[in-house]
Amino acid sequence: MESLTLRASTAASPLQRRRLLPGRQRATYVRATASAGEPDLSVRVNGLQMPNPFVIGSGPPGTNYTVMKRAFDEGWGAVIAKTVSLDAEKVINVTPRYAKLRAEPNGAAMGRIIGWQNIELISDRPLETMLNEFKQLKKEYPDRILIGSIMEEYNKAAWHELIERVEESGVDALEINFSCPHGMPERKMGAAVGQDCDLLEEVCGWINEKATVPVWAKMTPNITDITQPARISLKSGCEGVSAINTIMSVMGINLKTLRPEPCVEGYSTPGGYSARAVHPIALAKVMQIARMMKEEFADGQSLSAIGGVETGNDAAEFILLGADTVQVNY
Ligand SMILES: Cc1cc2nc3c(=O)[nH]c(=O)nc-3n(C[C@H](O)[C@H](O)[C@H](O)COP(=O)(O)O)c2cc1C
Repeated sequence: MESLTLRASTAASPLQRRRLLPGRQRATYVRATASAGEPDLSVRVNGLQMPNPFVIGSGPPGTNYTVMKRAFDEGWGAVIAKTVSLDAEKVINVTPRYAKLRAEPNGAAMGRIIGWQNIELISDRPLETMLNEFKQLKKEYPDRILIGSIMEEYNKAAWHELIERVEESGVDALEINFSCPHGMPERKMGAAVGQDCDLLEEVCGWINEKATVPVWAKMTPNITDITQPARISLKSGCEGVSAINTIMSVMGINLKTLRPEPCVEGYSTPGGYSARAVHPIALAKVMQIARMMKEEFADGQSLSAIGGVETGNDAAEFILLGADTVQVNY
């Protein structure tokens, strides 16, 4: 039985060559013969060898050792940990931090949930704790791909320190969170960078002069033309882009309390929209990036698609549009 598998191509830009180990090239799809009944879904992306292209995305399923270990045990192709930064003390995650959209009219309580809004920030666990857990995971699963997700303030020294410490934990690659809509914009964190191409170019420059493992830049959809930050990130030396992060949203106003949801002690703020309802939007954004990459980048840069993936069919749609890997958050 024939199946789709991936084989590394050899092209690499000067920036990539600087940091790529032998074999650290992007995969291209080729036909291969699978062994004994099971289709071979293995992929090699930016030199990262994965048993399949299905990746746990940065978020609740990458919060701690226990859930990441379970993902490896269940056979996921790679795991991207919840985003970390140097100082977890500045992160306060409130409760409740979710609101939901149901498929039934008027949000009838039993209706299927098709959209989530969250106001969850990055990891509020101490960086050292997260790094120790990354080390433990890489000790137990040396052949599996663990990707560190990072976010920092507009400060070159801080970015460099964070990259050095996260790389020391043994992660195989880095995903840069340029995309959480409710990051800390006043500190130029998250989407505040991903929405400003000048800032993005500068910060990508800092990151790529320091990082020694492949770097994926995670894009925000909260921008008119998502190909612009994707292009800047790749031109600045990132090996790949991931898209999409959540879509800025106000899930609804509670007509009893007259306050937006979710509401914490009387206050609320717009959050990030995700899940099934965003899948068509994510398909469009991924399609735009894939087309741009096909036309402008031939050095093996990769694309990781995210947004509302609940089934194998959802993932196959992204792969058909040109994604190398697909991230899942549920
Ligand atoms: C509760 C929650 C927390 C998240 N935290 C992070 C995060 O720490 N870092 C990050 O890059 N993306 C984070 N995301 C965004 C997801 O990785 C993903 O990009 C987004 O939810 C869209 O995909 P989905 O529809 O499959 O959830 C989070 C999403 C949710 C729902």
